[in-house]
Amino acid sequence: MKPRHLLATLPVLAVLCFAASTKAQTSPAGRLLASNCFQCHGTNGRGPGFDRLTGESANEIYKELLEFRSGKEGNGIMSAHALGYTDAQLRALAQWLATQR
Ligand code: HEC
Repeated sequence: MKPRHLLATLPVLAVLCFAASTKAQTSPAGRLLASNCFQCHGTNGRGPGFDRLTGESANEIYKELLEFRSGKEGNGIMSAHALGYTDAQLRALAQWLATQR
């Protein structure tokens, strides 16, 4: 391969690296996402603080988060929080929280 051709592959490599790192950022583990909730809901969602997030099924937690996000539930604090997450992230959060006792 001539050096010029080698140089031509660099932007492609850069795009591939960027794509790989963005993917890692948009699908972090539920545990990492949930660390954002601990300041209000206590370490690992177990309180003390506002409502405990443990002891419910992933589906129940996910449904609550969707209701907060739609603005139908809550006093606004949780809606502002839930708005920042995609459906997949809310699912990952709920799934991880449901594993906590
Ligand atoms: C700034 C404080 C704060 C943060 C941060 C926060 N919450 Fe909340 N959360 C609240 C308050 C206050 C309530 C109860 C009031 C309400 O219904 O709006 C609540 C209620 C909830 C409930 C309903 C619990 C139940 O059984 O009724 C869930 C589920 C929940 N939060 C999940 C989360 C998740 C997941 C995160 C992280 C993405 C999070 N919260 C971050 C303050 C917070």
